[in-house]
Amino acid sequence: MEKILVTSALPYANGPLHIGHVAGAYLPADIFVRFQKLLENDVIYICGTDEHGAPISIKAESEGVSPRDVVDKYHQSIKESFRGLEIEFDNFSGTARPEHHKISQSFFLNLLKKGFITKKTTKQWFDQKLGRFLSDRYIEGICPYCGSEGARGDQCDNCGKLIDALKLKNPISKISGDTPIIKETTHWYLDLPKFEKELREWLETKKYWKDNVRNFIFGWLNEGLIDRAITRDIDWGIPVPVENAEGKVLYVWFDAPIGYISSTMEWAKNIGDPDRWKDYWLDKNTKLIHFLGKDNIPFHTIIWPSMLMEQDDPYVLPHDVPANEYLNLEGQKMSTSRNWTVWVNDYLKYFDGELLRYVLAVNAPETKDSDFNWKDFQTRINSELNNILGNLANRTFVFSEKYFSGSIKKPDHLSEISQDNLNKANELVDQIHESYIKYQVRRVVKLIMDIARLGNKYFDETQPWVTIKNDPELAEETLYVCSELLRIISIAFSPIMPRSMKVLRQMMKLPDKLAWKNLGVQMEKISLNNVKPLFRKIEDKEIEEQIRILKQKQIEEEKGVEHKPEIEFDEFLKLELRIVEIVAAEKILKSNKLLKLKIRLNGESRTVVAGIAASYEPKEIIGKKVVMVMNLKPRRVMGVESQAMILAAHN
Ligand code: MF3
Ligand code: ZN
Repeated sequence: MEKILVTSALPYANGPLHIGHVAGAYLPADIFVRFQKLLENDVIYICGTDEHGAPISIKAESEGVSPRDVVDKYHQSIKESFRGLEIEFDNFSGTARPEHHKISQSFFLNLLKKGFITKKTTKQWFDQKLGRFLSDRYIEGICPYCGSEGARGDQCDNCGKLIDALKLKNPISKISGDTPIIKETTHWYLDLPKFEKELREWLETKKYWKDNVRNFIFGWLNEGLIDRAITRDIDWGIPVPVENAEGKVLYVWFDAPIGYISSTMEWAKNIGDPDRWKDYWLDKNTKLIHFLGKDNIPFHTIIWPSMLMEQDDPYVLPHDVPANEYLNLEGQKMSTSRNWTVWVNDYLKYFDGELLRYVLAVNAPETKDSDFNWKDFQTRINSELNNILGNLANRTFVFSEKYFSGSIKKPDHLSEISQDNLNKANELVDQIHESYIKYQVRRVVKLIMDIARLGNKYFDETQPWVTIKNDPELAEETLYVCSELLRIISIAFSPIMPRSMKVLRQMMKLPDKLAWKNLGVQMEKISLNNVKPLFRKIEDKEIEEQIRILKQKQIEEEKGVEHKPEIEFDEFLKLELRIVEIVAAEKILKSNKLLKLKIRLNGESRTVVAGIAASYEPKEIIGKKVVMVMNLKPRRVMGVESQAMILAAHN
């Protein structure tokens, strides 16, 4: 039995989850883990939210709340999205927890003690208006390598290179929009050149890693490693655990991967076996596999292994880092800042999570960027899932119920064509096994559909609707073989479609607990139960609606929002906002904009003139509860005194 520890890159808790994340780092890992569980290997799947760093502070600043609030909110939201997609971790933690802080600090101290961390005073961008240093994402400019705009102080999204922020061209502060100046500050650096030899030797042994990953790494190594600052001047993060380091925290990319360990520790504690994490992390036989998107490659293959190599405890190094390329949306690069994406929680309001699993598996960006588009989504669901697999199940089961009361027995002898088809399916099963191991999910899906296609073709060729008339046993044989194919699919496809494959098994009254080794165990008889369509079709209008939503978002983006100057919280507190009930409403004659409303609040009643007649008929707003500003100075409008103001917004 193999021991496998699978992780997915910890998502930043600074926003909801979108389908690009899912395709790159989570779905492929979840599928892999489910497959390993089928093989009955000892596998755990670990993740959590990445809760430090500039992305969190920037979000907190923009929302006017504390970083902690941001983290709690998105931790919850991300977790729910995962649940909706049936991405199941053995543990999902977060890096703002005290246990995580402690172990991250010990990693730092260990490296410091051994001389792999050095302290240096250097220059950095400084925002004079705000009086603070601008690290990482607080600064943007033109990438010194590829010349693309919008490169951040830590990394360029376009070419994926890590950047020395001082080399950015035309830098601007992301907070004030000013051009920053250069100022001195002191930081701790990870001395990567010291690891170079050992790293290279270790990486040379990783011939089996994906080409895209190896190319990236060796490109990087060949440019020569330089030391990297692993501390920052911000106030949200893990304090640097040495004296005279006030206001300095560990760089988020230093502590984040340690989250894989602290989350495993949390898991061990939760299962009541606190030392259990060591069985995975401190055993060289563990296969540690990190799933991630390509922008995370350097951190996981150079920096993180270096950090692990020099700990006192004998940590296992990554066995594999199957990084994926990017998923585009409707042919364009996804971008959260331009709101060009599909958020998982939005998706789940309309469609089943499993359908997305299917479509993202078919389009997995395994070796090159791939595309998600809504028309393709519909086609995949309707003409693959429904018309191929759904159809095989449907025709087999409906026919069995009609002519055999849903009960089919295994024939004593199989005809050549039947045997032939089962053999072919078994060959496909071997290829499926191999593809899962190689993380080739696209190929898995194709092979599964091949089994279903085989079944449909066999059904057509053996013509049970004809044989039923003079040789019912032959018809029963067809149904048996098709059911066998469906049983095989119900196991082999379960890592990708866990829930509907469970439903499929229930229809055939097969046990819930499934294992790959049972693929070869044929059914003696089948008794059907609760037969119903496996999947639903997606209507044109549902897809049109999604396309409309996407376009709408783009229009809003392009229009942009004009912001007013900021106000103090004290000024906001002056407003008396209350929820009141509208008890009467009528049009104000001679005006097509104004309504006269009567509102009630705890026995008090007031008259309000509101400019909403173009959007609301009087009768539709009576009885509604709305928010009103109660202390706005009364004002006469068209002869009526308005004694409060309704809050409303466009769209
Ligand atoms: N939060 C990072 C990102 O979304 C990924 C962190 S992966 C970790 O790009 F391993 F370092 F945690
Ligand atoms: Zn670049």
